[in-house]
Amino acid sequence: MIVARVSPFLFILFAFLSPASAQAPNADLIAKGQYLATAGDCVACHTTPGGTPFVGGRAFKLPFGTIYSRNITPDKETGIGSWSDDEFITAMQKGVAKGGEHLYPAFPYTAYTKLSRDDVLAIKAYLFSLTPVKNATPEDALSFPFNQRWALAFWNILFNPDKRFEADPKQSADWNRGAYLVEGLEHCGECHTPRRFTQSLNNSQKFAGAVTQGWMAYNITADSDSGVGGWSDDALASYLSTGHADGHSSAAGPMLEAVNDSLSHLTAQDIHAIVVYLRSAAPIKTVTAVAQNPPARSAATPPTADLGAQIFAGECANCHGWDGIGVQSPYASMVGSRTLNDSAATNLMAVLIGGSGAPSSDRPRFMPPFGVGRSDDQLSAVANFVNSYFGNGGSKITADDVAKARKALP
Ligand code: HEC
Ligand code: HEC
Ligand code: HEC
Repeated sequence: MIVARVSPFLFILFAFLSPASAQAPNADLIAKGQYLATAGDCVACHTTPGGTPFVGGRAFKLPFGTIYSRNITPDKETGIGSWSDDEFITAMQKGVAKGGEHLYPAFPYTAYTKLSRDDVLAIKAYLFSLTPVKNATPEDALSFPFNQRWALAFWNILFNPDKRFEADPKQSADWNRGAYLVEGLEHCGECHTPRRFTQSLNNSQKFAGAVTQGWMAYNITADSDSGVGGWSDDALASYLSTGHADGHSSAAGPMLEAVNDSLSHLTAQDIHAIVVYLRSAAPIKTVTAVAQNPPARSAATPPTADLGAQIFAGECANCHGWDGIGVQSPYASMVGSRTLNDSAATNLMAVLIGGSGAPSSDRPRFMPPFGVGRSDDQLSAVANFVNSYFGNGGSKITADDVAKARKALP
């Protein structure tokens, strides 16, 4: 090997001369940045399903076309390797990329803008410690006038606060930490707060629930019926850190991703802070309410000729049980789940079409997708059946609704 013949002296000399190593950020800063990047869940959006983390290319369907997340590894050509501190700060706080290109708020800079400069630079230090990967992400497919990115400058003036978080001295340290996480890094409102037609968040309906990419992010205000006001602190903490709370729900879809990639890695203290802050969100009553659950079902197969019940018997009962409490694991319990009590059945269809959980690592939590091989008629029949048998009985979805749900999902 050639390397072996080079004098070690040369390496030492190069180490001295190389500006990169002279300024190498210390391990503490990188570790801090890693925790913050995890809380910010950068990886969820900047990775394609099953792809290399942070290399981008994940598609975002917007009402007017498709954009793709970008490569944020430190590759100099296709990633952010040549970005200065200030260029990175400008992207995170103002949504403007190196070179002045305006970014779409599908990248939640309107939330990240609340982060302190130190925290953003810690995230940069972490990203720059990753192996650079060459990966050119696909070109956007935006229709006119939405491909005119400069117009976003006006949007930003109206809708990007471009302000750092300021602690409220009247509130506890936990509340303030929770606010920083929920409003900034974790950007919960990006999914849980409905948008106006301008695509800006409608904060008069803060956390009252919204549909994005075919999934309903439920009402998480303190309303006891349609929100999470009726959940105990422990149930909320358990849901956020493990993806499941007994008697309530198991997280699926984008929320399961948020739990797996981000929330499950947070300290118990940070989860507690998030719960404290969520509790203070003004209660808002919405139509997606958990109605009275039906009486407890027995484990015996009921006699019925209903198409949905027959599909349930053949395809679902071995995992979910006729009592609905889950055969292999409590994660498969349908009792008390919001998904079974939402008459629009948005997430019920999404779970049926795409499945849920992880196939290999966590077997008892895996539900296979039924979207392939099952017709829209069959899926609407089984959806209406489980809603009527285990939930509020309000769902009357049609084959057409299933067809629409298929299109809305990424
Ligand atoms: C909800 C999805 C989402 C999350 C979460 C997210 N991003 Fe992005 N990001 C995007 C999308 C989409 C784009 C491209 C936007 C566009 O094309 O206008 C982008 C663009 C960027 C860019 C601009 C890159 C370039 O080459 O122009 C940077 C930098 C960036 N993100 C960093 C981050 C960091 C750091 C985090 C975590 C703290 C993060 N992003 C979290 C979706 C996301
Ligand atoms: C990427 C989008 C997204 C983000 C970010 C997100 N959520 Fe969710 N959340 C969802 C979706 C979708 C569901 C419904 C999941 C399901 O049906 O299994 C959900 C469900 C929930 C539920 C369960 C509600 C119920 O009644 O069953 C809670 C609680 C919750 N989210 C809290 C949060 C908090 C707190 C944050 C921020 C720390 C957050 N979410 C961030 C999309 C998101
Ligand atoms: C191999 C076992 C398995 C099969 C078969 C299966 N499921 Fe599931 N199902 C699960 C598991 C495990 C979960 C929880 C996944 C998670 O953690 O997100 C789940 C979740 C669900 C949920 C969401 C519950 C909630 O709290 O949000 C619904 C609804 C559902 N399944 C319905 C069905 C229907 C209807 C069928 C038949 C067409 C079916 N399942 C077939 C294992 C299965």
